[in-house]
Amino acid sequence: MRTLARRLPLLVFAIVAVVLGSTSAIPALALAEEEERKQNPYKGNPDDILVGKGLFRYYCAGCHGMEGGGGFRGPDLVRGQLTHVVDDHDMLEVVRNGIQGTQMPPQTLPDSNLWRMIAFITDLRSKARPQELSGDWESGREIFNGKGFCSGCHMVRGEGGRFGPDLTGLGNTRPWESFQEAMREPSAQFKNVLQADGRMAGGYESVRLVTPAGERITGVVRNEDTYTIQVLDQEENYHSYRKSELRELTHLEHSLMPAYSESALSDQELMDLLIFLTRPPEE
Ligand code: HEC
Ligand code: HEC
Repeated sequence: MRTLARRLPLLVFAIVAVVLGSTSAIPALALAEEEERKQNPYKGNPDDILVGKGLFRYYCAGCHGMEGGGGFRGPDLVRGQLTHVVDDHDMLEVVRNGIQGTQMPPQTLPDSNLWRMIAFITDLRSKARPQELSGDWESGREIFNGKGFCSGCHMVRGEGGRFGPDLTGLGNTRPWESFQEAMREPSAQFKNVLQADGRMAGGYESVRLVTPAGERITGVVRNEDTYTIQVLDQEENYHSYRKSELRELTHLEHSLMPAYSESALSDQELMDLLIFLTRPPEE
């Protein structure tokens, strides 16, 4: 409604101009530009959606969750009605300017990359459907904290490790098939995201390095620029180096998350896990 109301005067102006003849070209063009500005040029394009996913993981997932399903600090962007956004162009403005008085920050990335993230979000929104999962929440919790050792690396609802991403809210939006693939072959999906944008895997790139003292460290990159790198190892120790002082620095093309075969965790156990990640604790 809001959007239509905003466009209406321009539309009327354009029609009048067309009727009047000679001056028609200019406002009609302005209208076309206005329309173009509002539409996401990358919508539905799988390559751009993948780049958008990598960017989203890097810039947004810390608050909105890995799959936009909501986290501790940001709301679910995938299911249900959005409160600040009617169309793609509103979303562009919200993401660029942030929302004053809330934790939602402004973003200085170029529009092309904002649009790619939005393409990722709208793609998730178009696929969101109620999940038909059957399994056991309590068993999922036990696997998460016990035999799966997920809690050694991942946090859910404020508890667990920091080596991997926070998984709170992930189950809300993650389709079963995609979750299963992420568990059976973490490196396949990791590579997808990595390749989409050169070396952008969203704060969880893996590296191996050898320190000036000859110590070998494998971990995830938390920050990197031309001269320095900060790495978190699996024991959750931060390491910070000038790149020039390192004896070796290799960016790895595989995930540091272990692959879970069917003998490690059955499909039913994975389904239990997804239910645990999807639903709030039972009181
Ligand atoms: C520091 C945490 C934080 C980060 C980082 C963050 N957001 Fe948000 N975001 C929020 C919060 C909190 C809100 C809800 C604001 C409110 O309405 O109270 C929000 C709201 C939004 C909305 C509007 C939702 C609606 O219902 O209309 C969109 C869209 C959005 N964020 C997208 C993004 C994108 C894309 C990124 C990454 C570029 C991002 N956010 C990064 C915290 C964050
Ligand atoms: C040794 C640490 C480690 C363990 C153990 C671990 N993960 Fe991960 N996980 C990671 C890291 C690092 C990432 C981010 C890099 C990536 O996507 O591969 C990740 C990513 C993920 C993702 C997101 C993948 C995507 O494609 O978006 C999911 C889902 C996930 N882990 C679930 C689990 C579950 C469930 C368990 C337990 C059965 C588990 N992980 C055990 C380290 C771990």
